[in-house]
Amino acid sequence: MGRFVVFEGGEGSGKSTQARLLAERWGALLTFEPGDTEVGRRLREILLSPETGELDERAEALLMAADRAHHVATVVNPALLRGRDVVCDRYVGSSIAYQGYGRGLDPHHVAALSAFATDGLRPDVVVLLEVPEEIAAERLAAAGKPDRMEAAGDEFHRRVAEGYRLQAAADPERWVVVDGSGSVEEVAARVVEAIEARGMGRADG
Ligand code: TYD
Repeated sequence: MGRFVVFEGGEGSGKSTQARLLAERWGALLTFEPGDTEVGRRLREILLSPETGELDERAEALLMAADRAHHVATVVNPALLRGRDVVCDRYVGSSIAYQGYGRGLDPHHVAALSAFATDGLRPDVVVLLEVPEEIAAERLAAAGKPDRMEAAGDEFHRRVAEGYRLQAAADPERWVVVDGSGSVEEVAARVVEAIEARGMGRADG
């Protein structure tokens, strides 16, 4: 089995950049949720396009879970089984933080839904990138037109951040919290150090 590393964090945390850098360093498969399959692309459009309008929060959670189920079954699991390392930009932690803490669904229900979707596949390490609210807001403002989630408001995103902190605190063996402020290179160095401290590094990496 390959190693399975997940990056989590709020909007503007820089995790997509860091996921890419780690995947390059390891020669790992880089993937993301929602939307990294053909079915997923269609689900992502419904989930994130502002044109979707109102979407019931349980329906939102189920569509995220549908994307995850298909992604795990057709991309992540086959790669891990071939011995390939996989770096995934968002996974179960996103659903618990956004649909659970953010939208207000019971986080245990959301976790159970994801456990069904993934057939129990859990990452070896989850890297949570944390940045102060002001930095995230600046990065987001520079990113252009907000999608459905980005447009959900400051209070929503504060609950998401709290949901992440609680998940990391509840499972310190799997989750590692990394300071996402500073330059891309500084953060990348922290990420590698944190992962290697868990015995997951690679001498030739
Ligand atoms: P994306 O464009 O990938 O943004 P980011 O760069 O912030 O990762 O958008 C993914 C959005 O979907 C993001 O707002 C978080 C949200 N999301 C959920 O609400 N639940 C989930 O389970 C996942 C995977 C993502």
